[in-house]
Amino acid sequence: MSHFHNPIHTSQPDTEQAIDRTVPEFPVAESVDEDNYFKTNIPPPYLDELREETLEFIKYHQENTGKKIALVTSGGTTVPLENNTVRFIDNFSAGTRGATSAEYFLELGYAVIFLHREFSLLPYSRHYSHTTNCFLDYMTQIDGKIEINPKYSKRMLEIYQKYQYARDQSLLLLLPFTTVNQYLFSLKTVSKTLHLINTKALFYLAAAVSDFFLPISKLPEHKIQAQDHNGGKLVVNLDPVPKFLRRLVDSWAPGAMIASFKLETDENILLKKSRQALKRYNHQLVIGNLLQTRKKEVVFVSKDAASEPVWCRLTDEELKLGVDIESLIIPHVIKAHQEWIEEHE
Ligand code: PMT
Repeated sequence: MSHFHNPIHTSQPDTEQAIDRTVPEFPVAESVDEDNYFKTNIPPPYLDELREETLEFIKYHQENTGKKIALVTSGGTTVPLENNTVRFIDNFSAGTRGATSAEYFLELGYAVIFLHREFSLLPYSRHYSHTTNCFLDYMTQIDGKIEINPKYSKRMLEIYQKYQYARDQSLLLLLPFTTVNQYLFSLKTVSKTLHLINTKALFYLAAAVSDFFLPISKLPEHKIQAQDHNGGKLVVNLDPVPKFLRRLVDSWAPGAMIASFKLETDENILLKKSRQALKRYNHQLVIGNLLQTRKKEVVFVSKDAASEPVWCRLTDEELKLGVDIESLIIPHVIKAHQEWIEEHE
């Protein structure tokens, strides 16, 4: 057996032991919470540049292609424990949902702003970047020259052609974040910029946003030293991250179509929590998923009071063939966006 292809995957959480969040929900953020957060925490230094890039992208598509725009958020946010960050809290998200969804949005005619965790999965390169294969395994040596292994080349050509089209038509804007603070400042900036020009955009919020963080006022500047703490213990006291989805709906991009994900680990509360999220944030669509089964089933909960939740599942056969569940999710979301646009015209 080759030790280069180890079948052990350490990034898969042990779902049997996963947490169950049945505690009451933290209240939604009001305008005063927004003022407080954005006044007391420091904006990332590149925020103006991010705004400019977003503006240029939206204007380009408005003037040249007329394409609809989807803002896709993707990957997990970190919570630094020190300002000069040696240690931080992270979460499980690899950005698979966001990166895969972005590909289907692009394929189905959208231009995509991809607000993602830096170094998480990206559309197209995701097929090769984070596998346990080394990228050199996709190559072979023929007559002293390196080439794509014929075993992979047909599939790679298909992906390359889609990637090339998106790149050449400037259909994809990549905007990175790492910390939850960068994510929140960026989401607010991009949303407001988008809303300024394009009020019919689609927000597709698949990022796994930290629920707890250390505000700048409590963040030590330098690496925490073991001897600073009683008995060498480190006690971390985190604040709740304001639930900004409500501010997005009410103030940053009022009138935009907003689809958010709801993640749970207990199947008995998924539907209830998804319905609650829709009510709390007052947006259009919640896509519920369980950590354990997120790659094979999701449930759509929409605002229409009459509508029942709609489950979307891959069959075992489709799973075996490697069909992406996003190939079912995105047409559903696009249909809802289209109907929503028609309703609001
Ligand atoms: O990246 P993968 O490995 O493919 O995993 C994909 C995913 C499971 C991360 C994705 O499908 C998903 O469920 N994303 C949402 C995860 C999440 O943050 O769930 P939540 O239930 O904690 O939050 C629900 C909603 O509230 C989210 O839309 C979030 O934007 C919003 N929120 C969260 C925290 C916060 N402080 N303010 C918010 O407004």
